[in-house]
Amino acid sequence: MGKLTGRVAVVTGAAGGIGKASARLFASEGAAVVLLDLAESVEETAALICREGGEARACCVDSSREQIVAGVISDVIKDYGRLDVVLANAGISGGLKSLFEQDEDDWAQLLRINLTGTFLAIKHGAKAMAEGMGGSIICTASIAGLRSGAGGPAYSASKAGVINLVQVAAQQLSGSNVRVNAICPGLVETGMTSMIFDAARDAGKEGRLGRLNPLRRAGSADEIARAALFLASDDSSYVNGHALVVDGGLSTSHPVSRQEFGATAC
Ligand SMILES: NC(=O)c1ccc[n+]([C@@H]2O[C@H](COP(=O)([O-])OP(=O)(O)OC[C@H]3O[C@@H](n4cnc5c(N)ncnc54)[C@H](O)[C@@H]3O)[C@@H](O)[C@H]2O)c1
Repeated sequence: MGKLTGRVAVVTGAAGGIGKASARLFASEGAAVVLLDLAESVEETAALICREGGEARACCVDSSREQIVAGVISDVIKDYGRLDVVLANAGISGGLKSLFEQDEDDWAQLLRINLTGTFLAIKHGAKAMAEGMGGSIICTASIAGLRSGAGGPAYSASKAGVINLVQVAAQQLSGSNVRVNAICPGLVETGMTSMIFDAARDAGKEGRLGRLNPLRRAGSADEIARAALFLASDDSSYVNGHALVVDGGLSTSHPVSRQEFGATAC
């Protein structure tokens, strides 16, 4: 028996990165997975999961549009008769813009994808789950939503919004047996961050990417997927309204030099 045997999961932003790694892990633990992404390569994620022996279907759609999200969830209930897990993960970074570079249209688009899309996944996912046996909704936020320094203004605000939304939703879903949690990844190598990693490699400075992190490295999509599996499964049955930081310890410190305090043990 896998941790998600017999369960049905919807994953947004599943064409690559954290969404793809999570979808593969959920499927390997027995879930049937329904994968959403704007990118057509979401079909490749579904095909890969099927080759690996799992059950998956792909929908090449925009997960920030209410009619689309409502339609996908309704099809899931029609076809599978249940919905147990939603990973609301689709997102864009918008680049490391300053306040003055951030224009209104970019701001609105980023908030739509990162925050409104998450809201829609919670709204329609929770309704279907509450009419069934309950379930688990996981939202990919970011350490950028905790404090400044890990994204532009719109990105950071969108992720702070996701963390707050998770708390509000957990409260409003009282008595429904629907849990809602967030994951706050640190720096992870995916399509979203490939420019940072490629630039560091090209400059021979890859090792510097993790130098402020107590674990002295960036994270992998698989490490975030394992946190998503924990929150999706009964292993986290009493965890609700929580923002789980998965960043190797990066966000534990104010940006001071360790040497100043003589902490140079290694
Ligand atoms: N990579 C990191 O360091 C990092 C850190 C913290 C948080 N995150 C968050 O993790 C999540 C996954 O990102 P990733 O790092 O795997 O990057 P990624 O670019 O590989 O994955 C994001 C996916 O979302 C999809 N997407 C974007 N807009 C969409 C829309 N409107 N509808 C459907 N799909 C859409 C993209 O096509 C892409 O496949 C994002 O929410 C991101 O903000 C990433």
